[in-house]
Amino acid sequence: MARVAAILVSCVLLLAATSSHGLKYGYYNRRCPPAEFIVRKVVGKAIRQNPGIGAGLIRLAFHDCFVQGCDASVLLDPTPANPRPEKLGPPNFPSLRGFEVIDVAKAALERVCPGKVSCADVVQFAGRDAAFFLSDHKVNYTLPGGRLDGRVSLENETLAFLPPPSFNLSELVDSFRTKGLDVDDLVVLSGSHTIGRSHCSSFSDRIGTPPSDMDAGLAAVLRRRCPANPNFNNDPTVVQDIFTPNRLDNQYYNNVLRRKVLFKSDAALLTSTETARKVVENAAVRGRWERKFARAMVKMAAIEVKTAANGEVRRNCRVVN
Ligand code: HEM
Ligand SMILES: *[C@@H]1O[C@H](CO)[C@@H](O)[C@H](O)[C@H]1NC(C)=O
Ligand SMILES: *[C@@H]1O[C@H](CO)[C@@H](O)[C@H](O)[C@H]1NC(C)=O
Ligand SMILES: *[C@@H]1O[C@H](CO)[C@@H](O)[C@H](O)[C@H]1NC(C)=O
Repeated sequence: MARVAAILVSCVLLLAATSSHGLKYGYYNRRCPPAEFIVRKVVGKAIRQNPGIGAGLIRLAFHDCFVQGCDASVLLDPTPANPRPEKLGPPNFPSLRGFEVIDVAKAALERVCPGKVSCADVVQFAGRDAAFFLSDHKVNYTLPGGRLDGRVSLENETLAFLPPPSFNLSELVDSFRTKGLDVDDLVVLSGSHTIGRSHCSSFSDRIGTPPSDMDAGLAAVLRRRCPANPNFNNDPTVVQDIFTPNRLDNQYYNNVLRRKVLFKSDAALLTSTETARKVVENAAVRGRWERKFARAMVKMAAIEVKTAANGEVRRNCRVVN
């Protein structure tokens, strides 16, 4: 009886230490003890120079996970054999940023523990650390490691899996469900739009006259900052959260409620009673969104993780070994 209990207890402990998909908390404790510290230091320095890069790193973690899983496929540069990788896809080029920070972290890791730390883990740790710094340390979570780097990266999969800002609620819910995320994850992760920037082309259809469901004052401000017809050569950026543009906080939900958000996909969160209620909760209850955000980021960081059969630890994050 005692033995059965002991076996049961060790099973539970094993399950607790190993999250799904074979990822493990403290994965680098023995393989490369300073790994997480090195990434955090590089990210902290980059954010002190430009907080916008932190926003880019959080978005990078999302865009990596939604296409081919969290496997650093978004980092691969074009080659003659694969001229159109993910990073050239419309959701990523030219807006996605933070690649150089990943390069700096990876170079430092290769000096200390060559061949040990995957680029896929660096991307997720960097997103986590950006959230830590931009939230003034309020979003503070541990993240399991052990992701492997993929060898497949295709531009045509970006538009297929990354939701565009023109999506309505049911399209957003479907897009997240395809990746194993639920409605709560959608509402909570959309809160990332409390930092960073957007190009005018991502919302220009919402600021013309007659006005859309966007707050008239915000639309007027945006009309002054954006050309009537933005294009690749003339596409300025504006901040997403006009109140606290570099602070990862729950201000986004107040902005949604006041219709002071840029995208149709942001405004869409008020179009069902279920999601509208979640918006109100995230806006109203202090500390609640930060906790939920951490949990949802851990969940997102486990999407379709690669195994030894289809993954590797790249030496250079921009090219397969
Ligand atoms: C729900 C569906 C989503 C849509 C439709 C969407 C769409 C967009 C768009 C169009 C931009 C502006 C890009 C530009 O023009 O420069 C943007 C920026 C951003 N998104 Fe999302 N996004 C979504 C979800 C997410 C999620 C889940 C995260 C992170 C967990 C995220 C994090 C960010 C961040 C941090 C920025 C600012 C990037 C920067 O300043 O470089 N977004 N998003
Ligand atoms: C973050 O969390 C870790 C581990 O849970 C804890 O040791 C640390 O003190 C926290 N840091 C901050 C700034 O809250
Ligand atoms: C993308 O293109 C590849 C071949 O180039 C094809 O096998 C794949 O099915 C396409 N994926 C999507 C989502 O269109
Ligand atoms: C969202 O858009 C899709 C495709 O255009 C449409 O079929 C669906 O009915 C729309 N859903 C809502 C809630 O408006």
